[in-house]
Amino acid sequence: MKVLLTGAGGQVGRAFRVLAPAGASVAALSHADLDITDAEQVRRAVAAHAPQWIVNAAAYTAVDAAENAHEAAHALNATAVGYLAHAARSTHARLLQLSTDFVFDGRASAPYEPDALTAPIGAYGATKLAGEQQALADGAPSIVMRTSWVYAAYGQNFVRTMLRLMAAKPEIRVVCDQVGSPTWATSLAQILWQMLEIDAPAGIYHWCDAGIASWYDFAVAIQEEALRRGILAHAIPVLPIPSAQYPTAAQRPAYSVLDAERTRALTGAPAEHWRTQLRKMLDELVAA
Ligand SMILES: NC(=O)c1ccc[n+]([C@@H]2O[C@H](COP(=O)([O-])OP(=O)(O)OC[C@H]3O[C@@H](n4cnc5c(N)ncnc54)[C@H](OP(=O)(O)O)[C@@H]3O)[C@@H](O)[C@H]2O)c1
Repeated sequence: MKVLLTGAGGQVGRAFRVLAPAGASVAALSHADLDITDAEQVRRAVAAHAPQWIVNAAAYTAVDAAENAHEAAHALNATAVGYLAHAARSTHARLLQLSTDFVFDGRASAPYEPDALTAPIGAYGATKLAGEQQALADGAPSIVMRTSWVYAAYGQNFVRTMLRLMAAKPEIRVVCDQVGSPTWATSLAQILWQMLEIDAPAGIYHWCDAGIASWYDFAVAIQEEALRRGILAHAIPVLPIPSAQYPTAAQRPAYSVLDAERTRALTGAPAEHWRTQLRKMLDELVAA
């Protein structure tokens, strides 16, 4: 299987590349190798590598910055996805596009199914939704895989931020009224490979690790597991606060839980609980 991976230097890109199964050939292109907002570069890269799959892990992921950089976020999260979809179509390749829980408004009280009504409440989510539409335009046989709260032993993410703050601050306050499913980039990458291997039908899918947590619950678990492994030397108080006490440029969905049943039914892969996956990620951090 020949795969062209964009955004190969990001969290999901790195995890996907590492898990490439025997027999798969991956052209892993980082931002420096391929700027997907350049239509001509995209056309040339796809022509040169002639992949069966294009996996797009490149994105504008700075949720707060996107509020004041709508054009830049749209260029990367939406227009560029159109370039990839077009290049895929003209070479008979398929596109796997990553997307996000932020396409929903977070007012639900049960996990969002893939066909649930989208209603992004911020610029990032709006541009990612536009990217989904680009990926699936004109009946293209693309896969859109939404995920949530991604972290890895590398890159910019909540776990690494918490570890840094917990080592430096006397106490931290963490939002307790937004809930979601923390997802290890490696869990997601495993599922992405399965989707490719079974040549999954086109459409929208969800994948996240199992279970639900608030950012506060997640922070408490990070501290406990990090102390156990000697990643942190001592505990500090972690205090729950409402979002109103932690203003950010972008509003975030309060309930951000995705229903991954469609993906589970197709792949047969049971999701592991987020805390199990957090432990594995921290073990990886210790071993590094
Ligand atoms: N992180 C999350 O919590 C989360 C949650 C839900 C969904 N997702 C989705 O999952 C996917 C992967 O996210 P991630 O967490 O792996 O993001 P990430 O770590 O921020 O990686 C994004 C990558 O895109 C690259 N990039 C930026 N501009 C580019 C351009 N013009 N052309 C090519 N590459 C470019 C970046 O490279 P440089 O850094 O060198 O610019 C970076 O390596 C995205 O579609 C995201 O929307 C993420």
